[in-house]
Amino acid sequence: MPNTLTLALSKGRIYKETLPLLKAAGIEPIDDPETSRKLILDTNQPDVRLIIVRASDVPSYVEYGGADLGVAGKDVLLEHPHAELYEPVDLRIACCKLMTAGRVDDVKKKGRLKVATKFVESTRQFYAEKGQQVDIIKLYGSMELAPLVGLADRIVDVVDTGNTLRANGLIPMEHIADISSRLVVNKASMKMKHARIQKFISDIRGAIEAQEND
Ligand code: ATP
Ligand code: PRP
Repeated sequence: MPNTLTLALSKGRIYKETLPLLKAAGIEPIDDPETSRKLILDTNQPDVRLIIVRASDVPSYVEYGGADLGVAGKDVLLEHPHAELYEPVDLRIACCKLMTAGRVDDVKKKGRLKVATKFVESTRQFYAEKGQQVDIIKLYGSMELAPLVGLADRIVDVVDTGNTLRANGLIPMEHIADISSRLVVNKASMKMKHARIQKFISDIRGAIEAQEND
């Protein structure tokens, strides 16, 4: 839409952690996506609306113009290496690490590894850079289960406290990447709505700095 800004967010962690930044930038949603079934949320600013999408769908919505802007984890963005997007701001929220992990009793596993993950692209690249051939099994969730039932020798997943790994008898092994969420921008919107988007970016940058100086 010509004069509105549409920002794509996912429910849960990203929504919760983006909200204070939006608030500091003067943008407050009128509905709460955790209680409303609405997928398009108006805000107190008549020219800004939020759309609620799956975390892994944010890059597609923004690349193809379903949204002008979005918030996506770097883990998700790394899975879209050819996406035509601008990534102007590291929001420094939803911080975690992308890591390999495996069973405590299987650290020295020899031979070709089976690796279960939803992060196929990062996994392929990580093992390719090590010159190690592996078989990658694509999963959509509950990766921790795979080594427990013999589906895989390793997983690649995001790790924060390590509690999920520990609870399942797994240990983190190799660090692949530090992850945080990024503001992403549609390339055409950046041209057509340049001044409005630049103001949004500068307000968000100000909000991040204010939050960090608190
Ligand atoms: P989808 O619904 O598309 O499968 P998801 O369930 O992984 O996505 P969330 O769990 O809301 O989505 O995670 C959103 C982002 O938050 C991830 O892409 C990652 O960057 C980050 N993240 C995931 N888990 C954690 C964690 N335990 N601690 C901190 N950040 C995390
Ligand atoms: C994420 C991720 C890990 C866990 C890691 O799951 O998939 O399982 O966090 O965090 P930890 O190291 O602090 O335990 P999340 O809680 O988001 O659930 P989901 O992926 O099923 O949405």
